[in-house]
Amino acid sequence: MLIAGNWKMYKGPAQTAEFCLGLREAELDQVDVVVCPPFVSLAVAVQLLAGTEIAVAAQNVHWEKEGAYTGEISTSMLWELGVYGAIVGHSERRQHFGETDENVAKRAKAALDAGLFVIACVGETEEQRESGQTQDVLRRQLSALEADDNLVVAYEPVWAIGTGNTATPEIAQEAHAFVKTLLDVPVLYGGSVKPDNAEELLDQPDVDGALVGGASLDLDSFTTICRLAIPS
Ligand code: PGA
Repeated sequence: MLIAGNWKMYKGPAQTAEFCLGLREAELDQVDVVVCPPFVSLAVAVQLLAGTEIAVAAQNVHWEKEGAYTGEISTSMLWELGVYGAIVGHSERRQHFGETDENVAKRAKAALDAGLFVIACVGETEEQRESGQTQDVLRRQLSALEADDNLVVAYEPVWAIGTGNTATPEIAQEAHAFVKTLLDVPVLYGGSVKPDNAEELLDQPDVDGALVGGASLDLDSFTTICRLAIPS
């Protein structure tokens, strides 16, 4: 089981330090845990989680090694900081920053080639689900990716992100099983995962972990979700 916390645009270095010191104390050795702070907070997170099993990943990464790409960060820059991996293709990047299946695939490939771990996000909007296009959307988004030992997919239905409308365990299971027919990699569920719904989602046979947004910002709720992922 892998539990990843996507902090989005929350927590600068000072708040990151406070959170990571708390996380160190939480003794989460029996579950794979990753935190994904904003770029400016990566260094402090790497420093404060050194010597633990908790990994630090970025929220995005560019495909070129360096160049005239204002606002972007390369794989070698992450590597130099000791960052373990990166999220790519989050729906907020696709929706607000024009990222496409094609450039998400370039980001994923560059990161994997550089030896980084990748969490690639896919998922349909409410409109797409209602018009019966879920499988077509997932097929299109996944067709740009290739299986790799360092790749996991996060199934994050857009209608469930930050809305409190979590997918039912059945909906998540169905989508995860479908994703695995297309790409043989572990699949995390994301979208309003909270301490009170994590257990039933993580119980589904094809749910291999969670990508947690809002509930990963609070130490107690994040560590509670991590503990629910420990096999009993
Ligand atoms: P949420 O976000 O848990 O706040 O819905 C999930 C995500 O965006 O990865």
